[in-house]
Amino acid sequence: MAFRAKIRMMVGMRQRLQRGRGVDPTQYTPFYAYRAAGRGASPKQALYCEGASLADIADAAGTPAYVYSRASIEAAYRRLDRAFGALPHTVCYAVKANSNLAVLRVLARLGSGFDIVSGGELDRLRRIGVAGNRIVFSGVGKTREEIREALRYPGKSARRGGIFLFNVESGAELEVLLGESARHIAAGGERPSAAIRVNPDVMAGGHPHISTGHHHHKFGVDWAEARRLYLANKDSRWIRWRGISAHIGSQIFSVVPYRRALTRLASYTRELARNGIRLDTIDAGGGLGIRYTDESELGASAYARALGKIVRPLGCRLLIEPGRALVGPAGVLLTRVLYVKKNRGKTFVVVDAAMNDLIRPVLYDALHPITAAERDAGGSTKKEKVDVVGPICESTDFLARDWPLERVGPGDLLVVWAGGAYGFAESSNYNARRRAAEILVEGRRFRVARRRETYDDLVRSELP
Ligand code: LLP
Repeated sequence: MAFRAKIRMMVGMRQRLQRGRGVDPTQYTPFYAYRAAGRGASPKQALYCEGASLADIADAAGTPAYVYSRASIEAAYRRLDRAFGALPHTVCYAVKANSNLAVLRVLARLGSGFDIVSGGELDRLRRIGVAGNRIVFSGVGKTREEIREALRYPGKSARRGGIFLFNVESGAELEVLLGESARHIAAGGERPSAAIRVNPDVMAGGHPHISTGHHHHKFGVDWAEARRLYLANKDSRWIRWRGISAHIGSQIFSVVPYRRALTRLASYTRELARNGIRLDTIDAGGGLGIRYTDESELGASAYARALGKIVRPLGCRLLIEPGRALVGPAGVLLTRVLYVKKNRGKTFVVVDAAMNDLIRPVLYDALHPITAAERDAGGSTKKEKVDVVGPICESTDFLARDWPLERVGPGDLLVVWAGGAYGFAESSNYNARRRAAEILVEGRRFRVARRRETYDDLVRSELP
């Protein structure tokens, strides 16, 4: 590697290491706050989620545990929904971010729509009684069975079942949808509505792994192909073209890529109208970024203004598919310190949560701030840079590296922030670890929304 490139890489690494150190997540995470706890010579503060103390939750539910604030999810949904004002729109929560039934139910009660990418996600919505006309089905690899299940999604009557919209991602998938729909209609079902997920060829997203809207990504169909598919199936008896969609990536902090992508979708919509295909929905995907450490959020109103300006003149309903923005800041991962060890001047805080519980740090280079659930009231506690690591036998098993942490010891409770999205959802049983409990906080009360797995759960499907 050239000398300059090497220097650039080293500077970049250093900047990444420095990024976001020293932030206080309570300053920007709604519904979480430290409160005075105990008096005396060294007064303490304890962390609360809404009206519930995280120490109490950990005592009751054990650790590791994901904790979600219901009020936070509700506030995030309402803020986003209201930002679009009178523009016809539906917020379709991206279920993949956090598919816990209790979380889905909170959103369903607010009237949210849902964006799914698998039959499993569809099944979750069915279990909590979400109406099919609030469900959009995205995903690059829908199987025939999944398409069939979505066509037959229970409705008020057998005829009126199905989902709101299929976001088709390839010509081959469209063929399967047409075939399944023909059978469905022959059996008395209704003609489904479809959209094509177009790849708008826009670069966006916080990390290469979560950027999706460029032509080298596997998602969507380029416009030439999409146009061909729309026109070839203009008068189809088996589907009704209703929309066009795009999802360009995640952790987006600027309106620019949204504008670029949506402007393209708008011009395609007009071109289709000139050819006799009148769409009535335009789906801008998800991707609205949240603050983990020092990112500056775009804000619901700037986002809504930018999208609204492009969609309003079309007279279409706007769909958006936020995942992280609705649930990310609402959740934390609670974990206890097992041991503190030093190796040649480096301090490792070994905790009971691991990369199987939260894989984002190693998979996406993500920084989730970590703080102690109890701190000195003066806020003067000296911090030491530590690696917070889990018990898994891999060097990649860390929750944070070189993270400034208060002095902690075995038994102390730590909080890993902004874990509500893609936290539990991406957890696994690696090292035969039981997946964590999930707790929903509602005011001063909290309840188990998913109990910690047992060893029996782990072997239930195995046939020795
Ligand atoms: N719609 C579609 C079609 C998507 O593929 C996604 C996310 C979303 C909506 C929601 O995006 P959001 O608003 O949450 O950014 N596991 C990664 C994120 C992967 C996102 C995949 N698609 C992470 O932990 O950062």
